[in-house]
Amino acid sequence: MGPIGIFDSGYGGLTILQDIQNKLPEHDYLYLGDNARAPYGTRSFDVVYEFTLEAIKELFDRGCELIIIACNTASAKALRTIQQNDLPKHFPGKRVLGVIRPSSEIIGQFTLNNHIGILATQGTVVSESYVIEIEKFSPECRVHQLACPLWVPLIENNEHETKEGREFIKKDVELLLSKSKYIDTILLGCTHYPVLKEYIESIIPNGIEVIAQGNIVADSLSDYLLRHPWLDSKCSKNGSIHFLTTESSQEFDQNASHFFSKSISSEHIKLG
Ligand code: DGL
Repeated sequence: MGPIGIFDSGYGGLTILQDIQNKLPEHDYLYLGDNARAPYGTRSFDVVYEFTLEAIKELFDRGCELIIIACNTASAKALRTIQQNDLPKHFPGKRVLGVIRPSSEIIGQFTLNNHIGILATQGTVVSESYVIEIEKFSPECRVHQLACPLWVPLIENNEHETKEGREFIKKDVELLLSKSKYIDTILLGCTHYPVLKEYIESIIPNGIEVIAQGNIVADSLSDYLLRHPWLDSKCSKNGSIHFLTTESSQEFDQNASHFFSKSISSEHIKLG
């Protein structure tokens, strides 16, 4: 038995963990943020895969049976190879899930006119993962994507609330909306972006809904565990959370408060 592993390049996955823990409070969680090597968004496919695999191995070594890659970039660039090659070969019986699939399954239910805007990292946008996945579940939907390569660095460095940071974010949101006047649903396709949700809502026209992934991923995980009771029985349930970071733990604990409602005392680790 072990905790559920939650992995992100940095702080963003905490927004997912928050909603997962609200939904499934009895489970134990082990969070790993690779903050020292964030952002992943502009890194190559091979590097994101290599870093993600290192993180996954670390979480498995620490007893996790199930891991959520709470990072769209890593879900887009590494998840499939890990699921198809690494799990069967090296970790049979263990499971790794991502965040793009559950979001793509349900996003079509939010739009009234079938025009969806996606804000995400360069890596996620270029992978076309959302376009491909949404097409499977809601072929009637048009997907308009915008890569926001500076948003994760702004957020990781806590500069997203500065005047310059906000101006920058506003310009990108306007750029996305200029792609189609019909967009009525914006998916925050990066787990760092929910900290910008309120601000984005304040600068867009009425009638456009902004969707964060946390609740979607939490509902999907809860449903997955119900459908896989053998796996759920391997997940320990003492209501605990432990945090690992590749950055200084002091810095992580301080910055994490923007993403997670409880105070955090993390442990520093090295990957690679
Ligand atoms: N939270 C990650 C995501 O959802 C950010 C990736 C990055 O580090 O650029 O894509």
